[in-house]
Amino acid sequence: MPRRDYRSLSAQFKYQLDTLVKIGISLSAENSLSRLLDMIVFHARELTRADGGTLYLLRDDRLHFTIIQNETLALHFGGESGRPIDLEPVAMQKDNVCAYAAILGKTVAIDDVYESKEFDFSGPRKYDAITGYRSRSMLVVPMKNHVGAVTGVLQLVNAVDRDRDAIVPFDDKATDLVEAMASMAAVAIEKTKLLEDTRNLFNSVIEVLGVAMDAKSHYTGNHIQKVAQLNLELAQAIHEDDTVFPGVCFTENELEEIRLAGWLHDIGKVTTPEWVMDKDNKLKTVVDRIALIEDRFRLAAEQLRTEGRTAEAEALLDDLRFVSDKNRPVEEMSDADIARLREIASRRLLLAAHEERLINDDELRNLLIRHGSLTEEEIEKVKEHAVWTARMLDRLSFPDHLRHVALYAVQHHEKLNGQGYPTGATADKIPLPSRILAIADLYEALSARDRPYKERMPYEQTIAILRRYAENGDIDGRILSFFVEKDVFRRFEEKYRNGRNGASPLPRP
Ligand SMILES: [Fe+2]
Ligand SMILES: [Fe+2]
Repeated sequence: MPRRDYRSLSAQFKYQLDTLVKIGISLSAENSLSRLLDMIVFHARELTRADGGTLYLLRDDRLHFTIIQNETLALHFGGESGRPIDLEPVAMQKDNVCAYAAILGKTVAIDDVYESKEFDFSGPRKYDAITGYRSRSMLVVPMKNHVGAVTGVLQLVNAVDRDRDAIVPFDDKATDLVEAMASMAAVAIEKTKLLEDTRNLFNSVIEVLGVAMDAKSHYTGNHIQKVAQLNLELAQAIHEDDTVFPGVCFTENELEEIRLAGWLHDIGKVTTPEWVMDKDNKLKTVVDRIALIEDRFRLAAEQLRTEGRTAEAEALLDDLRFVSDKNRPVEEMSDADIARLREIASRRLLLAAHEERLINDDELRNLLIRHGSLTEEEIEKVKEHAVWTARMLDRLSFPDHLRHVALYAVQHHEKLNGQGYPTGATADKIPLPSRILAIADLYEALSARDRPYKERMPYEQTIAILRRYAENGDIDGRILSFFVEKDVFRRFEEKYRNGRNGASPLPRP
């Protein structure tokens, strides 16, 4: 095989070849689709010295405007510009030059579009009339993927000869280069789209899980969704801040880990029995056992009456009212109430010659719950969710760049002083994202009306409790002060109310 003599290559061509190689490398390295699309048009223009470029993607048998760039008109639409393109997609009819190139899979070069009889250029002419632009030379290249299927079209306008400061036709060499680049671009687009589709699917599965968890409990009021967003809001505020946290700057991947950890932090609650999660009265299991106690008391009162012991019957019904009242959880039950409950439960009532207990041991144990509605065992059961979160996330194969998601999620109940759970990790083992999530989680849990006996706690009161936690060494006081001083919560609330920041709560059935 004869060796090619590269010395004969013109400097211009060497430069273009060099550029093409660089473009190939940068296209394959780009993971963001919108950045990639911008890059393709930019590089195609660079290779051909084109003033303008438009990229179309083929979807539903139509060519969709995806990127528009024009240097003279200082235009940039689509891609990273954030400015959407409001133009009708192009139908696949051969009188349109882009559709023609896509249908035939052939490159079209035109020296002056105003003189072309082959295609309908009324659109560009109309556009020129508005902008004062003059479209002249044009190069339209179909983008073919690895199996040769056309997936889009690259349209370049007005090749500029800088030496002569003139618009010139696109030359053949430029055409070859853009054709080569277009294939690389098509493959890169497919790869990036596949990655983005996978990422989107992964994210939506995680969000659906979170939303489903929220729907499982009547009282938690979208806890997971709110924590996920508050957590990200706080992390982003810390990331952007350069006064309190000047050295902290999260990478895109780290922010993604933080976001996912927020969504997944309570995933282990899927194993927590519903009646524990939603235990509203102390005697509640699947049913509220106060009904059984009421039956017993009423039956006993009835018997007492038939035996003529009316005063005792009345006293018994008064006790029943008391017991029913104590079935409802309170923040703190008094010693006197506890003593009276014990006294009632200790009684043996002699009815129709046999002894009757009105409250059994397990019922008493539940009624004696001083704070809230959960027994010690049930509190342990609730705490187990953190262990389950760990077990479940351990089974998910996170890609390397998301390897910390499980750690951040699992640590949301750890305390800096080592008194948290599930592992009792101490400050040196608790990284910043876990500390942020712990505060977002606590803030949400404290302020929410997540139990029937609890009213929504005002902001100031919630912060006062969190400050005590910080003084106690449970949570990071520096993050908490930042949270308060920068008004992070109010910013979150505004976004949440407007339904921004990523989540779209599913409607309740
Ligand atoms: Fe939790
Ligand atoms: Fe939580």
